Amino acid sequence: MHPDIAEIIITEDEIKIRVAQLAKQLSEDYKDKNLFLLVLLRGGVLFLADLSRQLTINAEIDFMAVTRYTGEVPSNEVKIIKDLDKPIEDKDVLIVEDIIDNGNTLDFVVKQLKHRNPKSLKICTLLDKPSQRMVNINSDYNGFVIEDRFVVGYGLDYKQRYRNLPYIGILKQEIQGLVTGG
Ligand code: IMP
Ligand code: MG
Repeated sequence: MHPDIAEIIITEDEIKIRVAQLAKQLSEDYKDKNLFLLVLLRGGVLFLADLSRQLTINAEIDFMAVTRYTGEVPSNEVKIIKDLDKPIEDKDVLIVEDIIDNGNTLDFVVKQLKHRNPKSLKICTLLDKPSQRMVNINSDYNGFVIEDRFVVGYGLDYKQRYRNLPYIGILKQEIQGLVTGG
């Protein structure tokens, strides 16, 4: 275990099993569709890499990056910092994201994408922290529901570190100062 981690809450094996289940489900649900995996950078990348390799159907992959506005006043407003390369009109878009927490990020992305007329638009998250939700939005596919604790690993970072851990864990208290999402 990484020395900064206090506790592993989801092991590498548990992630593997769950990701395979999700991929199986998606392969059935999107069998006769034009699956377009829209990955949110950077947190969704590890999840995408494992999930997409287990799909038994064709899928396009493209990336988008969004960020919270960082101003003097802390804000939940979001903006696009890297957009998709191609239109999504008539595609069956599945947003792949690491976690849905208060929901503002995905709510913003969904609203933006709806204007572009995808054929369908759904959300697939690895983790869901439902207790933190501020807006009415939910994942259509989700790996694990977790408690309201700050987690790192498998795409999730603290100050851009720990994304590469193969499990989901909690940081030691001395490592983690005042934490906000992002
Ligand atoms: P929200 O749903 O708008 O609150 O934000 C989701 C984003 O916040 C995710 O894409 C993560 O980047 C970040 N985030 C939320 N909870 C955590 C966590 O526990 N660890 C690391 N990042 C988190
Ligand atoms: Mg993120």
